[in-house]
Amino acid sequence: TGLITFDPGYKNTGACESKITFLDGEEGKLLYRGYPIEQIAEKSSFVEVMYLLLKGELPTQAELDQFNKDIAEYNYVTEDLVKILDAFPSSAHPMGMLSSLTSALSAFNPKCVNVHSPDDMYKAAVTLLGKFPVLASWTQRKSKGLPINYSNDELGYVENFYHLLFKKPGKDLELNPVIIDALDKLLILHADHEQNCSTSTVRLVGSSHAGLFASISAGISALWGPLHGGANQAVLEMLDAIQADGGNVEKYLEKAKDKNDPFRLMGFGHRVYKNFDPRAKIIKVACDNVLEQLGINDPILDIAKKLERAALEDDYFKSRNLYPNVDFYSGIIYKALDIPTEMFTVMFAVGRLPGWIAQWMEMRETNQPIGRPRQLYTGSPARDYVEISKR
Ligand code: CMC
Repeated sequence: TGLITFDPGYKNTGACESKITFLDGEEGKLLYRGYPIEQIAEKSSFVEVMYLLLKGELPTQAELDQFNKDIAEYNYVTEDLVKILDAFPSSAHPMGMLSSLTSALSAFNPKCVNVHSPDDMYKAAVTLLGKFPVLASWTQRKSKGLPINYSNDELGYVENFYHLLFKKPGKDLELNPVIIDALDKLLILHADHEQNCSTSTVRLVGSSHAGLFASISAGISALWGPLHGGANQAVLEMLDAIQADGGNVEKYLEKAKDKNDPFRLMGFGHRVYKNFDPRAKIIKVACDNVLEQLGINDPILDIAKKLERAALEDDYFKSRNLYPNVDFYSGIIYKALDIPTEMFTVMFAVGRLPGWIAQWMEMRETNQPIGRPRQLYTGSPARDYVEISKR
């Protein structure tokens, strides 16, 4: 065991080389393929970011058009999957349904499973990029008791996702540019974040050469947890609870500081960012703008700001470098867009999908060996088996 580096939680382990995303936790810097997240969020679009992450460069107009076409070719899902969806209770959590439906895609798209050449990997990638928003929308429609919806090829990727989520039979759907822009920005801000828990999961599962859909399904499960992507749902539930409790922010700060209480301030803290989370900065401004433009006055936003201010002035949070992360304000925007709380982490997954796929592709293209950490054994020394009658 002398040669094994002990690093629980992989806090200091670099498990791969990557050219995709750069993150500097001290400086609060995040770059996609070298481009600062601030510029990307302001000037780019989610589809362009998907291309950038997968291919390494920003597309020309012709390349972007072709990419959109490639994705649109696969933006339907076989009716057989509806039977699987139907079998879930409507109370099922959308993340559980999404993980299962994504895994089930392997059965219906066997050619995407054992892929090795760059062309085949690209085809698997656009297949999933096309089908994923459809599946994500179905989980919301199932929970709401709405009939499932199908893609509209006239619409762009994000507009189509919105249409998939919200179009009701027999009714027109207004595509409000404020809402579509907000959604686009949120998806961009979630698109990749180097070796976080779900991305590492996608790489680890994919390193055994399990297929893309199985690897992404595992990533969805990892994202679901409240310490990771599930935090966005947990933040809104926390803010609702504080509101119901008379807006008593201090009480919840004290709970978060109490080491005998499992409660943590959701949407606060980050493994890598020890100064600020640049995504949270952008989202906070976007949140103010979106609510103003939509004419929404949500008291939850006031509670969030009060909680943030109080935490940033508190020695416990200051001394541990705990700042609001990407999940702190995103839920307030999702809520303003009429997205149910249980769907927040699904929205995160739709945003993170291109990052997961890019990391999976990079891992396969660079022939990364199978992931297989070691351990420090702390169990019993060797001993003789005891017959059951003698125990
Ligand atoms: N509330 C109260 N105390 C906290 C919090 C929090 N949100 N986060 C960290 N701490 C404390 C923790 O108790 C520990 O204190 P001590 O040194 O006294 O034992 C110290 O700060 C360091 O925390 P840690 O748990 O060792 O840090 P970590 O890097 O293992 O965990 C984290 C990072 C994000 C899991 C954690 O900060 C957390 O649980 N935050 C709340 C959940 C959350 O918002 N997650 C979303 C993360 S960002 C987006 C994403 O990944 O999806």
